[in-house]
Amino acid sequence: MRSKITVVGAGFVGSTLTQRLVERDYADVVMFDIIPNMPQGKALDMLQAGPVLGYDSLVVGTNDYAGTANSDIVVITSGFPRKPGMSRDDLVKKNQEIIGQVTQEVAKNSPNCIIIMVTNPLDAMAQLAHHISGFPRNRVVGMAGVLDTARFRTFIAQELGASVRDVQAYVLGGHGDTMVPLARMCTVAGVPISQLMAAERIEQIVQRTRDGGAEIVKLLGTGSAYFAPSASVLQMVDSILLDKKMIMPCAAYLQGEYGINGLFVGVPVKLGAQGIEQIVEVELSESERALLKKSADAVKELVEVMGI
Ligand code: APR
Repeated sequence: MRSKITVVGAGFVGSTLTQRLVERDYADVVMFDIIPNMPQGKALDMLQAGPVLGYDSLVVGTNDYAGTANSDIVVITSGFPRKPGMSRDDLVKKNQEIIGQVTQEVAKNSPNCIIIMVTNPLDAMAQLAHHISGFPRNRVVGMAGVLDTARFRTFIAQELGASVRDVQAYVLGGHGDTMVPLARMCTVAGVPISQLMAAERIEQIVQRTRDGGAEIVKLLGTGSAYFAPSASVLQMVDSILLDKKMIMPCAAYLQGEYGINGLFVGVPVKLGAQGIEQIVEVELSESERALLKKSADAVKELVEVMGI
């Protein structure tokens, strides 16, 4: 039997992700949204691309959680995107209500699933889903670091005229203004970028990465990024569904790792069939540790705003 993936929210991120997933041809996909008929229409359109592109994955849209039952993975993208001038943090109250209700339904209908949270503010929403679902921490993971790292890698590759495949990097911390790009660990074909670029230029690229989401929000005028976010989720799903055990930065519930307790923060994790199979602790410098703590404090503030 093929695996089953549910994508909650059939907006820009949700529908682009669903398209990417069905093209992988390794799972059937259910797209859920509260807007009547919309996910059904998008799903039917995607299904009809199957004969052309050669995939047999089934894709259906629904407004009823019964159709999502017993999913292996549920990706949550429902909610409001950021508007120009709005920080991720402003979104917390708006999306808390949606994610609270969605998580209850997801946990009831797919009690054994792995939840991937995409809705912003990401770390806070992952914390809420973990709290409401009662799932063990290996089965609730947030998508942020893969996207932030992809942005960092893009800018470095552009700057150096290098292949993005040769650029390796890590961005840790919360998905927001306090993210921590680890420039020290960034390499191009194994060569540290400190040997390839001036320190000031690296700092400028770090700052552009921090502002990466906002830059796109501003250009779009309405809505926020969805091509790179959906690609990032796809890589996480690949690693889980195919049990690839790739190590990538994701939001995970920390219980003492990195000196942080009881909070979702972006750190390197191993993703496999069990979800988060390991939280990888890399050695951080004192200043990196301080930045990570600041990032965790920002997540904590949001969690306090939610009152959970
Ligand atoms: N249940 C299910 N779907 C819902 C609910 C709900 N309670 N409330 C809203 N939705 C749906 C909307 O109907 C809409 O189709 O969520 C979808 C959101 O889609 P978009 O508005 O297109 O937003 P998108 O760009 O996809 O971003 C979604 O991902 O990257 C983050 O910050 C972004 O939090 C935002 C999320």
